[in-house]
Amino acid sequence: MKVAVGCDHAGFVLKSAVLDFLRTRGIEPLDCGAFSEEKGDDYPSVAFRVAQLVSSEEVEGGVLMCGTGIGVALAANKTSGVRAAPCNDVELARMGKAHNNINVITLGGRVIKPEQVPAILEAWLSTPFEGGRHLQRLNKISQAERSTFCTNLLSKGQGAIQGRTVIFNHPLVQHKVGIIRSQDTTVKQFRELLQEIAGLMVYEITRDLPLVEAEVETPVARTTVRTLAGKKLAIVPVLRAGLGMVDGILQLVPNAKVGHIGLYRDPETLNPVEYYCKLPQDIEERDVFVLDPMLATGGSAAAAISLIKRRGGQKVSLVCLIAAPEGIERVHKEHPDADIFIAALDSHLNDHGYIVPGLGDAGDRLFGTK
Ligand code: RB5
Repeated sequence: MKVAVGCDHAGFVLKSAVLDFLRTRGIEPLDCGAFSEEKGDDYPSVAFRVAQLVSSEEVEGGVLMCGTGIGVALAANKTSGVRAAPCNDVELARMGKAHNNINVITLGGRVIKPEQVPAILEAWLSTPFEGGRHLQRLNKISQAERSTFCTNLLSKGQGAIQGRTVIFNHPLVQHKVGIIRSQDTTVKQFRELLQEIAGLMVYEITRDLPLVEAEVETPVARTTVRTLAGKKLAIVPVLRAGLGMVDGILQLVPNAKVGHIGLYRDPETLNPVEYYCKLPQDIEERDVFVLDPMLATGGSAAAAISLIKRRGGQKVSLVCLIAAPEGIERVHKEHPDADIFIAALDSHLNDHGYIVPGLGDAGDRLFGTK
């Protein structure tokens, strides 16, 4: 059995007790950090990472710790399939499993002592879920989760409107993401799937377009209908992989103007450097959607958004296929006003900067260059 473990600075005090207990019980812990008591971390990032591992069934459970166990539970419960709850004593852990079948147990480093950890975790692990009427209730929760189109990791902040991360959990999108990830998918299939997924994402990225009322004559009567208010859109693929999303989007919004941005990474500074940028002239009047299938470190996405803003872009959003938490964090940090739309949130980046599990290099797979 594998269990993902994560904490923020306030939960760090409990982490070694959790890791030691799991190991003595023959369970392999997957340590997702934090790795020190430094206050630089925030509990949502680690909670999303552990939750994603549980939701994708890469691990069979999760243990999360913050000051109280509350913050990490709130964050983890935003991921579908996760049932997280603070259980700072043995009875809560037992009931949390027996009645709620929690798959992520959360603990408070400022509420309990490391010595209490073994008994609490033992109660969670050894108590069976009772099923029956409790299962019916959990099924109702899963149903509500499935009917929610997307998950907002961040919504409105205090005062100013903050950018959101919207994850598409629509079954068709998820199905196609599953196929495109496979290394056996051919270049032709990859190209088609990327366009199809981008097309399906249009439905949600255009949700806030303004409508105006108009009058039409049907064959039966005159009536009032609602039509698009003529809002101008621009899509801007980041070369080269972003090109693979353009046609899918244009099929549904054929009047959108298309800009292009080319960036390369300076081998010395590792910073993204612009080598091409051509945007619609009236960019400041348009809702701009930057397209890049993979959001890894977030360096080039953040640079592309900056470039558009420097040339007058006012409302810029990012549309990606797969993202790593590191990339989302960076883009939100550098552009707190930008929305990020993604079809899947993956676990982390590996040492080569690839998203894990990801799908490899989207550009190479799209153009067959490797
Ligand atoms: C951090 O100071 C603290 O707010 C956090 O660890 C947690 O208790 C939130 O729920």
